[in-house]
Amino acid sequence: MCGIVGYIGEQKAAPILLKGLQRLEYRGYDSAGIAVHDSVQINLVKCKGKVSNLQKRLEETPLVGNIGIGHTRWATHGPPNDENAHPHATANNEMVIIHNGIIENFDTLKKGLIQRGHTFQSDTDTEVLIHLVDDIKRNEEDITLFEAVRKALNEVVGAYAIVVMSRENPNQLIAAKKGSPLVIGIGKQEGEYFIASDATPIIEHTKNVVYLEDEEIAIVDRESGLQLRNIKNQEKTPYIQELKMQLEALEKGGYEHFMLKEIYEQPRSVRDSMRGRLNVNKGIVALGGIREYEQKLIQAKRIIIVACGTSWHAGLVGEYLFEDLARIPVEVEYASEFRYRNPIIAEDDVVIAISQSGETADTLAAIEMAKQRGATIIGICNVIGSTIPRTTHAGSYTHAGPEIGVASTKAFTAQVTVLTLMALSVAQGKGTIPHSRFQRLLIELDAVPEKIEKVLQLDDQIQYIADYYKNATNALYLGRGINFPVALEGALKLKEISYIHAEGYPAAEMKHGPIALIDENMPVVVIATQGASYDKIVSNVQEVKARKGKVIAVVTQGDEQVKALADHTIEIPEVDEVLMGLISVIPLQLLSYHVAVMRGCNVDQPRNLAKSVTVE
Ligand code: G6P
Repeated sequence: MCGIVGYIGEQKAAPILLKGLQRLEYRGYDSAGIAVHDSVQINLVKCKGKVSNLQKRLEETPLVGNIGIGHTRWATHGPPNDENAHPHATANNEMVIIHNGIIENFDTLKKGLIQRGHTFQSDTDTEVLIHLVDDIKRNEEDITLFEAVRKALNEVVGAYAIVVMSRENPNQLIAAKKGSPLVIGIGKQEGEYFIASDATPIIEHTKNVVYLEDEEIAIVDRESGLQLRNIKNQEKTPYIQELKMQLEALEKGGYEHFMLKEIYEQPRSVRDSMRGRLNVNKGIVALGGIREYEQKLIQAKRIIIVACGTSWHAGLVGEYLFEDLARIPVEVEYASEFRYRNPIIAEDDVVIAISQSGETADTLAAIEMAKQRGATIIGICNVIGSTIPRTTHAGSYTHAGPEIGVASTKAFTAQVTVLTLMALSVAQGKGTIPHSRFQRLLIELDAVPEKIEKVLQLDDQIQYIADYYKNATNALYLGRGINFPVALEGALKLKEISYIHAEGYPAAEMKHGPIALIDENMPVVVIATQGASYDKIVSNVQEVKARKGKVIAVVTQGDEQVKALADHTIEIPEVDEVLMGLISVIPLQLLSYHVAVMRGCNVDQPRNLAKSVTVE
């Protein structure tokens, strides 16, 4: 949520900042801005709308200089407009700031500042912070920029990742973080540094990075290099890490949208999630990252899964897997509810936190609370080095590669793959799964990437179906068992990117409400694959048809019964029921994608959404 970039070095800052903002645009895209120091003064261009708008403005008003900051916004305080766009500045652009996060006590701070003569141009909490720094500077002669920022941050309640630049210091940027991520890239030339919310804008310049910890402040100086201190002013040693990410992973690679590319990457990303963890010949499932905590899982009285959004849906699939295979009771919680509920957590509970970004504020807070109450916390995350994996006791990365499209696709299937491996490994350790079933599931899991490939070959047919339903205003998604969370995920995908109202429901619950909505204008997507409740779902399809609803059914290859009833069918390969979620979700992703494209929506940057939700 909100993208931050900063540059200091010998190169022209503006093009680097602009490219960085383009890479970070998935974090927020309602306004954008750049400030560059031309060694005499700071010049600023910012505007409402996407980074492409900013690019046009910069063509009219180029910014010259080798040090600067840039921001792409996801609005929290105040509507998206030119005034509320970052960077925010004090009078005459003496000091400028970019910020991601929320300053919770901004109102109190603002009142005090107004009394002391400060005037404000925007509705944002960020502008308050830069005025606070200014206020401290005005009151203490000879105070350094670092010291003024440090003192200001001591007065702040909330979350922040900030970068500050001052006219007086043409060779310096001050960056700090608490709760929101920030990473510093160490350039190839002496005195060159890149700052960003995540590594995506940095990777093309350098692989050496330092992730800031909470309450750390970096003094990034062209002459004296990088120094780290914390808000108590203690010196810290920068820990330089090497990025493993590849630049190609951040490009569209010939696809029209990131979302489509990511859907098509799933045979590979699911395979990568299993790589080195699944050995069919030897009959082994092993997740290195949780080895030391595997006994905790085996002995767990209960597993609590915490997550948000799509990751929460993956958690619901995990519930079926752990209960069915490992016979452990599972509760799946929205992190945002769990953290505020005073839940009962015992020391022999294991909490599994699932997050693509590893930065989701509510999931992080849920982890902290469960940790304080003595639970063991295991993470399932995609972004290497992000906050959640650094906060949990142990965990497994999903290895899906960077996911840029705001609507999550390959992260979901990678999360479900890792949950499947985890459940299988625990089931084997507990002895809750017969050897023959275990072995068969390993073989089937290993074959999932090829089956996903087969589903992707149905793309033309799915596009045809999308054309048929593209003007719908509502849609219902039904599934049973492991396909119920898939129905939720299918509905979420459609509403996120096409703005069609869609709801997912357990198929049998339909008669307790949504059936009232069904008429000839209501498309109902039914996931009716073979499995224990197949006959039941056939009845649900009949109930929809009896009310003239339009049925799009996802069925197992060779199906006759549902095919005879449905208006459209998508036949997907057969797979053991517990693995079905990995296959049945694919046509639903494609369906939403095509509907959204046909409706002229921006699938990669749907309105009001952000990829990484770092505010609660
Ligand atoms: C946002 C994203 C979703 C994602 C959710 C949870 O809403 O748009 O795609 O599922 O956050 O994010 P996480 O990174 O924790 O999985």
